[in-house]
Amino acid sequence: MDSLTNMKKTIILKVNCENPEYEKITFAAKIIRNGGLVAFPTETVYGLGADALNPEAVRGIYLAKMRPLDNPIIVHISSKSDLYRLAEDLPKYAEDLMIRFWPGPLTLVLKASSIVPRVTTGGLDTIAIRMPKHKVALALIEASKTPIAAPSANIAGRPSPTMAEHVIQDLFGRIDLILDAGPTSIGVESTVLDLTHDPPQILRPGGVTYEELRKVLGKVMIHPAAIAKSEVPVEHARSPGLKHKHYAPKADMIVVEGDFNAIIEKIRELAYQYLKDGKKVGILATNESLGRYELGIIKSMGSREDLKSAARNLFKLLREFDDDGVDIIIAEGVPENGLGLAIMNRLRRAAGYNVIRVS
Ligand code: TXA
Ligand code: MG
Repeated sequence: MDSLTNMKKTIILKVNCENPEYEKITFAAKIIRNGGLVAFPTETVYGLGADALNPEAVRGIYLAKMRPLDNPIIVHISSKSDLYRLAEDLPKYAEDLMIRFWPGPLTLVLKASSIVPRVTTGGLDTIAIRMPKHKVALALIEASKTPIAAPSANIAGRPSPTMAEHVIQDLFGRIDLILDAGPTSIGVESTVLDLTHDPPQILRPGGVTYEELRKVLGKVMIHPAAIAKSEVPVEHARSPGLKHKHYAPKADMIVVEGDFNAIIEKIRELAYQYLKDGKKVGILATNESLGRYELGIIKSMGSREDLKSAARNLFKLLREFDDDGVDIIIAEGVPENGLGLAIMNRLRRAAGYNVIRVS
């Protein structure tokens, strides 16, 4: 971290998530226009925003987050006309996807136009674009009269922020403003879909599911690293985000996957062993298994029948385990359909691919 002399004065403003106050949005937009950094809510996670067309401002994002300069940033827009300025050579299905999923948690990777600074795209000739579905985000982009580059508003490598409190933990003193509109509704990030690839390829599973994309596209691929159960080599050129360390709590973490009852047995056994070794244990359970553990700090992500709740709670619970000071988090795997694909991707990566399969 930089010394205290480099600290910024960070203002925190509560904003109404349904009817964002005009003066507060105008104030935030002025900061964006002046090249500053504003954290704001989206429907997925909080983003750390800067003017996407101002290279100096975008450089500030990388610095504040301590993000590797080769990891490109998603550009957020509030109207489709922005897309045609930022991207070119749109494939035929781009239009269908925008109609079906925007505003919403789908990010499209397209060929970048010449107005996009290379620092925004991490040096690539492609650009990732999305139109968020959150009134505060849309109002801020509109008032700023420029597309807003925004990665998740966490220190690089940490779990993404789903509440303003998480942004404060990571970035207070490093950015200009935090707009606090309460917890986000989806809780995992957008799906990143590469449209420069034919058929389109999911680089990161997220809020829009593989099943939903298949209905529109017919054929969709998933990047092998996005569903890998262990670390796989990644070619940098197309999917830089896949190779960086991510979502990691401070504690060590293990994910146990497989048959539900076998998962519970294995976690009971591991919890006992770790406790015997003097470790403080956290168990990331589900509503259906909650009553079957006795040892350690036990938290539920939500019901296996409703993975939306699990997605919404996941990052918050990882941060809570850190606050509890646990040495090891043992997490239950969930089925990989629907949002389960995004949840398992985050869990495995948070655990550094420390995965145990049981049957
Ligand atoms: O839901 C979200 O997407 C949130 C909110 C704030 O919108 N944003 C977010 O940004 O998660 P970030 O920077 O944490 O993740 C962006 C991902 C990274 O994996 C990055 O590598 C990938 O998108 N990405 C960005 N531009 C890309 C490009 N041109 N080609 C391939 N991948 C790209
Ligand atoms: Mg991120």
